[in-house]
Amino acid sequence: MNQPDWWYDEFRHLAVDFNDPQQVAAYDARQGTKLAEERQLVQRLGITTGQQVVEFGTGTGAFAQAAAEVGATVIAVDISPAMLAYAEKRSIDVADRLTFVRDGFLSYQHTGTPVDFVVTKYAFHHLPDFWKAIALNHFAAMLKPGGKFYLEDVVFSFTPDAVEDSIETWIGRVANGQSFSRADFAGHVREEFSTFGWILEGLIERAGFEILERNYTSPTYANYLCLKKS
Ligand SMILES: C[S@@+](CC[C@H](N)C(=O)[O-])C[C@H]1O[C@@H](n2cnc3c(N)ncnc32)[C@H](O)[C@@H]1O
Repeated sequence: MNQPDWWYDEFRHLAVDFNDPQQVAAYDARQGTKLAEERQLVQRLGITTGQQVVEFGTGTGAFAQAAAEVGATVIAVDISPAMLAYAEKRSIDVADRLTFVRDGFLSYQHTGTPVDFVVTKYAFHHLPDFWKAIALNHFAAMLKPGGKFYLEDVVFSFTPDAVEDSIETWIGRVANGQSFSRADFAGHVREEFSTFGWILEGLIERAGFEILERNYTSPTYANYLCLKKS
């Protein structure tokens, strides 16, 4: 689809190039991705056989695999061909229930019937807040009434006056010099678009969702389970 010249270019990688084969190969180990945890999340969300899920920013595809394992049909969307190739390979046993699409939050066009779930984990911070609002509207439009939206990401719940202490404490805790360096997290804060929880909650609610569960698991991480209001 042709977009106007002011449209956001969501296909460029920000601080990390997720189309770099080395990044992709190392991703699960660095991130500590565990299929067992993705399976638990699928259970927590109540995803079951016959349901339809669209996952944005699928990355190495562990969540998509776990959802397909319970019998859901999953459309796994990512801007990175290298990530999609990795995800497709890992989930070969459930390939009949998975479709991989190279596209983005804003540009993916859903043509099938409205879906039961839209899910995105650790990817939404790639959009500036203005474009998050546009994407959330887009998600609501592809969900059936009563459909659910799950978002998990780096989200800030400290107050702006505590920024230095909060970011330094976070970096000190997670940058261990092995899987992730200080530069990785500094790049995230400087160049990506993680935002405050109160901003995200406002954006979610304005797109027509009711937030059923909000979990601020630390001052820098959160997840939200949301219902599309009819
Ligand atoms: C940090 S990884 C998260 C992967 C996986 N969801 C996880 O939880 O481990 C971010 C992923 O989002 C993808 N991504 C970045 N911008 C995107 C966009 N605009 N639309 C869809 N995916 C995007 C990247 O290519 C990358 O695979």
